[in-house]
Amino acid sequence: MKNPPQNKEQFVHDLFCTIAHRYDLLNSLLSFNRDRYWRRFAVEQTGLLPGQKGLDVCCGTGLMTIEQAKRVGPDGSVVGLDFCQSMLDIAVGNIAKTPYGPMIELLEGNAMALPFDDDSFDCATIGFALRNVPDIKAVLGEMRRVVRPGGKVVSLELAKPGTPGFKQLYYLYFEQILPLLGKLGIGVDGPYQWLPESLRRFPHQAEICRFFGEVGLQDAAYYELTGGIVAVHTGRK
Ligand SMILES: C[S@@+](CC[C@H](N)C(=O)[O-])C[C@H]1O[C@@H](n2cnc3c(N)ncnc32)[C@H](O)[C@@H]1O
Repeated sequence: MKNPPQNKEQFVHDLFCTIAHRYDLLNSLLSFNRDRYWRRFAVEQTGLLPGQKGLDVCCGTGLMTIEQAKRVGPDGSVVGLDFCQSMLDIAVGNIAKTPYGPMIELLEGNAMALPFDDDSFDCATIGFALRNVPDIKAVLGEMRRVVRPGGKVVSLELAKPGTPGFKQLYYLYFEQILPLLGKLGIGVDGPYQWLPESLRRFPHQAEICRFFGEVGLQDAAYYELTGGIVAVHTGRK
């Protein structure tokens, strides 16, 4: 990337406001529709039960929020939080196509300073966003703070595959082809160059697992999915 962002938070905010209208479509196309399965798998790891209360940090267009709502059912509730109003506007439309509207509240806010009391939720998830925040441990610490003791913190994020052969093929697609497809999809250069760049700057999944422990989460562990191109990290407060 020619101009790495000086103010990452502002850069990321503006980027998602630019691509919000095409985000879901491009996500599904560029991941060969695997993204829905990955979100479902991540939400399964929360252990969320009917009647409980979940939080989806950096909820974007609400797809992981909806997955949580499916689990908590009509007696539970889910809050989706994001700092980009255009992404939340798409989330409103996505939620309206489901029966889960009454269980979901969407909130504009910053993952770095969650506007909730300690111990407020039974779990907190974050999907494809730890890469985008200015301070990974600060966000994980915030997620831990607002989850009740015993509750789970779960992250779904792109990861760094290690299998020789597959790894080279994947990076060819991710670094060379995907930014071109992204540019075709939204009509401007730039936003989809951030995707490979953000992964390059992001720590390996083993280090993210260590961060979970360092912010005080117990039993930190991770699963690699689809050949290790994404990872789901879990920890318990
Ligand atoms: C790649 S999208 C992921 C959206 C959704 N979680 C999903 O699974 O598709 C990243 C989202 O994180 C949001 N985001 C990034 N940094 C944030 C921050 N500091 N506070 C709140 N939202 C943030 C962006 O606005 C964007 O909607």
